[in-house]
Amino acid sequence: MNRKTAEKAQRYFTTGISLITSFGPHGQNVMAAEWTMQISYKPMLIAVFIHENSVTFKNIKKTKEFGINVSSERQTMAVNIAGGYSRREIDKLKIKEAFEFLPSRKIKSPMIAGCIINVECKLVTMKKLGDHTMVVGKAVTISHDEAKKPLIYHSGRYFQIGSLIEPFRKVVTVDDDVFDWFSSMSKGKFVLKCVGLIIKSNNRVLVLKQTKNTSYLTIPFVVPKRGTEYLKILDFYMQKSGLSTTINNIPILKRLTLKNKKKIQRINFVLFEGRLKSNIKDHIWKSSKLNPLLHILSN
Ligand SMILES: Cc1cc2nc3c(=O)[nH]c(=O)nc-3n(C[C@H](O)[C@H](O)[C@H](O)COP(=O)(O)O)c2cc1C
Repeated sequence: MNRKTAEKAQRYFTTGISLITSFGPHGQNVMAAEWTMQISYKPMLIAVFIHENSVTFKNIKKTKEFGINVSSERQTMAVNIAGGYSRREIDKLKIKEAFEFLPSRKIKSPMIAGCIINVECKLVTMKKLGDHTMVVGKAVTISHDEAKKPLIYHSGRYFQIGSLIEPFRKVVTVDDDVFDWFSSMSKGKFVLKCVGLIIKSNNRVLVLKQTKNTSYLTIPFVVPKRGTEYLKILDFYMQKSGLSTTINNIPILKRLTLKNKKKIQRINFVLFEGRLKSNIKDHIWKSSKLNPLLHILSN
């Protein structure tokens, strides 16, 4: 690996910045750490990667506790101070008008106000990895401020979070029956996941009657159980439907939003293309021209 290229590339990682607070043999302290992330839900564990030469590391090693204060977009000055000086040089937390504090509840480290998240942590483990040490803390108290936005760090510079990117979905307007049918299958899930098979012949698509109770005709599809192999489950469904098919194993993803009046249902279709080997039972070919859902699925 070319070292110069690697040095440039590593600056392209994008992170937030945390203010790591501690109170140990070297007094109260704060340092900036971009390498901070949650690594477990239950228990809530957070890892910070800290250089052993820092005063913060020495404080944490001794007291086995520390604060994580995830900085907001208004805190570039605090981050510059925390990351630009060592406690050996100056008591950073005493710098005039640089920091405001929150009361600490379960640890002795000071906690910093104006952040998006404040976590009080008890040390769980430390492990040296490369030139830094992974310091893992268990959250003993946590709070957040929804009114604040995170500070973003990228390429050695600070940024504000940008506008929301809505994942792209094609919107298909469907009638009441179709909507209710898909919606009931989703059982309240935010996104209904389906696996379907597209078999075309002369601008028409093969459709099946979906269940005994409905006359709704659409492409053969199944709602897979989490973790089941999509190709296998589709193949099984086709066999059960009495159709002998060959299925191409290249998946096509269609992200749709079904719309009916003011209601919406998100559906992710993973589709495979196939062809009929022979047909045992009756099946129907439908033109997709007049059916918007069929049209989107098959084109
Ligand atoms: C934006 C920024 C991010 C930083 N991220 C880290 C980090 O993730 N890990 C680390 O060990 N040092 C990091 N540093 C450097 C420390 O904050 C710096 O060495 C600090 O002076 C240590 O303070 P202390 O000796 O008072 O503990 C970062 C510095 C800046 C400016």
